Amino acid sequence: MERPKGDRSGVTTSRVRGDSRRDSLAQLYQLPAAARLGILAITAVLGGGFLSSGWYLYYHYEKRDEKPGLTIDDIKAAYHGLETQAPLKTALERGHPEGLPEESRKVLLSWLESGQVFENYDNIDFADVTPKEILTSSCISCHARSPKDAKGAFPSMPLENWDDVKAVSASKKLNPYPINILALSTHTHALAIGTMAAVIVLMTGMTRWPRGLVGFLSLVAGVGLFVDIGSWWVTRHFIEAAWGIVVGGAMFNIASGLMLVMIALECLRPGPRVVIAKNEVKS
Ligand code: HEC
Repeated sequence: MERPKGDRSGVTTSRVRGDSRRDSLAQLYQLPAAARLGILAITAVLGGGFLSSGWYLYYHYEKRDEKPGLTIDDIKAAYHGLETQAPLKTALERGHPEGLPEESRKVLLSWLESGQVFENYDNIDFADVTPKEILTSSCISCHARSPKDAKGAFPSMPLENWDDVKAVSASKKLNPYPINILALSTHTHALAIGTMAAVIVLMTGMTRWPRGLVGFLSLVAGVGLFVDIGSWWVTRHFIEAAWGIVVGGAMFNIASGLMLVMIALECLRPGPRVVIAKNEVKS
């Protein structure tokens, strides 16, 4: 549908979509210098808030899947729940260590699958050569705190006693947040971050940055936040939606971070002299 533009029978029906000088939002540069300094300080605080929440998120989720670093599995574990396989089993299944007799590998795997890892660890009724004996004869040459032959060894994962073995032989089921915690977290985050996002978008609109850029970043931040928080709930039922948390969160953080920088720069940028001069002449 064509929207009539311009003036017809004295009525302007085109939409007002002013450029930076004419739009109806007040401009930050119109504020007194003291107010702009205040806003500048607030952008620094919000920026610090972004950085520290990033830092907090990393350390909060990092350990969830018991692998170093923040991975998608940490997010899946928190929002959906995840079963992790015992590292020992994973290693044996991928053929580690080379040269382990097939018979021993079978004994170790059926031991890990027996559901009685502790009971069968050194149980001579379970196997002629018990798991403990296999680990001692085939593994601790490398997996010892001070291995005999340091070359090719892995002393950071010793397998010398039951406690060492216990740490890597359990398959774990990681439970997601209880639903009431998720509701509580949504309630605080959705309201607080939503409000903050609205303020950032509005203040960015009150700058002289190109309208296209302002619009684009506002869209990315808003949609990102929606996808991020919405995915918290979707992931509960559909695990791959964890990617929505990652992608939405990244969209929101990058776009809002950029807008904060733009607001801060606007606070430092002097007002447009030319316009003031014209007005002075007119009045
Ligand atoms: C020749 C030395 C050597 C021997 C023998 C050896 N390992 Fe390893 N193992 C390593 C090294 C090095 C790594 C780390 C690199 C890798 O993951 O391949 C490792 C990694 C592992 C890991 C993975 C740790 C992780 O989560 O990243 C497990 C589990 C493991 N070994 C178990 C065993 C078991 C069980 C045995 C005996 C049946 C064994 N290893 C024998 C050298 C050895």
